Amino acid sequence: MPLEKIDQLAREWLEEAGNRIFMSLEQSNIEVDTKADRNDLVTNVDKATERYFADKIAEHFPNHRLLGEEGYGEEITSLEGVVWVLDPIDGTVNFVEQKRNFAISLGIYKEGIGELAYIYDIIAGEFYFAKRGEGAFVNDEPIPALAPDKKLENALVIINTAAMRKFPQTLEVIRNARGLRLYGAATLEYMAVATGRADAYISANLSPWDIGAGKIIAEEVGAIVTRANGNPMVVTEKGDSFVASPGVHAEILRDYF
Ligand code: IPD
Ligand code: CA
Ligand code: CA
Repeated sequence: MPLEKIDQLAREWLEEAGNRIFMSLEQSNIEVDTKADRNDLVTNVDKATERYFADKIAEHFPNHRLLGEEGYGEEITSLEGVVWVLDPIDGTVNFVEQKRNFAISLGIYKEGIGELAYIYDIIAGEFYFAKRGEGAFVNDEPIPALAPDKKLENALVIINTAAMRKFPQTLEVIRNARGLRLYGAATLEYMAVATGRADAYISANLSPWDIGAGKIIAEEVGAIVTRANGNPMVVTEKGDSFVASPGVHAEILRDYF
């Protein structure tokens, strides 16, 4: 199956899913439930969005597999074949509380290699896309490559509270940076680094669907993506995540971890 066909359909489905999510906000028909704890939210819209993709993928690509947050895909521990890694709504707390600052995230992997990636910030009207080896784009505009040599003293860093607890040295990183920013949606935090609006993002506990697309897009513009200790980040495994422009990544690893 050529990637062009997959790309064409993925874009159609993202647009339709985005419209449905937008309408659900307009009509205020959102039912909120909790999962692991009282702040781990899921809504009928998260579930309906993943269900929509699951049905479309099964109809058009019966041999492809879906790795999605809400359980409409399969139990997946390896990326053999073609795997669609989907977070139907990343930033569900923002979706419920702010009605903005959330995104659909979709990464498409073939034999373990990230080929296509999409992060759709519906309310901002920002559609991020990357194709392996062909660069990254926002609304079809190329995203420039990141400066290789930025220093922490000039950097804005994004460090979530779980990472501050797990890695107390990140408090020193914040003290020595230009400032701290938090967005509350891992995919948009990855895109902040990819577009140079921030320079580093460290998070303690991300799942495959949080990083599947962001890793592909960020790497296309030259960001370095690893675990917090600098080890390679395997997309199928849950864990901490550290994405930054090259100079800032090297400086934080060398001086703080
Ligand atoms: C969450 C968000 C959040 C991150 C959490 C994720 P969800 O995703 O990306 O920023 O800190 O680890 O689970 O639950 O809103 O899809
Ligand atoms: Ca998520
Ligand atoms: Ca989600």
